[in-house]
Amino acid sequence: MTTLRDVTTDTVDETRAEALRQELLRHLRGQGNVVNDHVAAAFAAVPRHRFLPDTSLDEAYADDAVITKLNDRGHPVSSVSAPWVQARMLELSGLGRGMRALEIGSGGYNAALMAELVGENGEVVSVDIDPEVTDRAQRLLAETGYDRVVRVQCADGTYGAGAAAPAEGFDAIVVTAQAPDLPPAWSDQLAPHGRLVVPLSFRGIHQVFAFGCEDGHLRSRGQTRCGFVGMQGDNRHTGHTIDLSDGDLRLGLNDDQHADADALRAALASATRTTTWTGVVLRNDEGVLPSLDLWLVATLSPCARIYASSRGVERGLSGWTIAAAATWEGGTLAYTTIRPATGGFELGVHAYGPNREQLADRLAERIRAWDSGGHRGSVEPTLRAYPAGTPVDQLAMGQIIDNRHTRLVISLP
Ligand SMILES: C[S@@+](CC[C@H](N)C(=O)[O-])C[C@H]1O[C@@H](n2cnc3c(N)ncnc32)[C@H](O)[C@@H]1O
Repeated sequence: MTTLRDVTTDTVDETRAEALRQELLRHLRGQGNVVNDHVAAAFAAVPRHRFLPDTSLDEAYADDAVITKLNDRGHPVSSVSAPWVQARMLELSGLGRGMRALEIGSGGYNAALMAELVGENGEVVSVDIDPEVTDRAQRLLAETGYDRVVRVQCADGTYGAGAAAPAEGFDAIVVTAQAPDLPPAWSDQLAPHGRLVVPLSFRGIHQVFAFGCEDGHLRSRGQTRCGFVGMQGDNRHTGHTIDLSDGDLRLGLNDDQHADADALRAALASATRTTTWTGVVLRNDEGVLPSLDLWLVATLSPCARIYASSRGVERGLSGWTIAAAATWEGGTLAYTTIRPATGGFELGVHAYGPNREQLADRLAERIRAWDSGGHRGSVEPTLRAYPAGTPVDQLAMGQIIDNRHTRLVISLP
């Protein structure tokens, strides 16, 4: 097997690093996140520890993200992502020999994996908005010899590669920061057969989708569940939050969602509540909550996240501090909650306001449909992205999410 990297000696125990790299690859294959032999060869070739020089070998080869930069408030703004998600996204990208690729969000390591996939005759452009990140990535790629294939550029990836985009478009664009929307540059710079792999956020859901072009819009062809650091720049997250009860219960809305804040606050203040228990149990360590959340977003409108503080839980406003699903209608609000049950927690719905019985029933019915319809294990909706302003009669059927640049339509098969 040929590899692009320069083989240089240094003080690290390279034999141990090689063994850990093979072990990581076995682990990724075992998970099913590495299937393709080219992706496997890339993971076998790229020395991850050389892109994480300040961490131990064990940390460098653990299947975890390594944070490389915090902002002033101590929140992570840059990292080298976890190997499992890098593997899954590269599998979804369809990258192969001689192709052109764009990475948005640099760390060095993932660009090196992409370089291994496209080979000497391919091309990788890696764009990051933060000059500290691009300086670091550039230096590490040069030290490992991958700068022969990867060009690093400091810019807002909202505009793709800008002037560096090839006229024929990229065969794959891999976005590695959580994006609320798909700016036009990404589809404009994508070759007609290309893949856009992007962690998208909508209605409080974080899910990676791989899109391909179809009849003037983008349609998802694969997905995986994962959260990333948020995108900065012109495609950063917006949205607004409504405080419903002294900071102890907050409703987070996307820009295209509206709720009557005063009426909902009044409903909460009345303290008159209906609680409907669904009989649906989340078993301990089952990890199916994201699938329920995705199911509700795909089948219920409006749908958003509600957040209870720990004081809100103490006050009995909710059974958990987790971001829960919520729906509302005028001055009525319904949201999911839990209570202990044998082997786990039973899902229920709290509802306040004049139509609380009906709205609680509607949300409870959706939860039961998720449970009984065989959706617990995985929910894989199709996501389509149309240019903003596309008339409704030209959209596929489904729940519509209106963003600045796109109308997203989420539908279940
Ligand atoms: C998870 S890290 C990238 C990880 C990297 N791809 C790797 O090797 O695993 C996300 C990066 O996205 C960058 N970023 C955030 N917003 C951006 C934007 N608008 N344009 C380009 N990069 C952005 C951040 O600076 C951060 O370095």
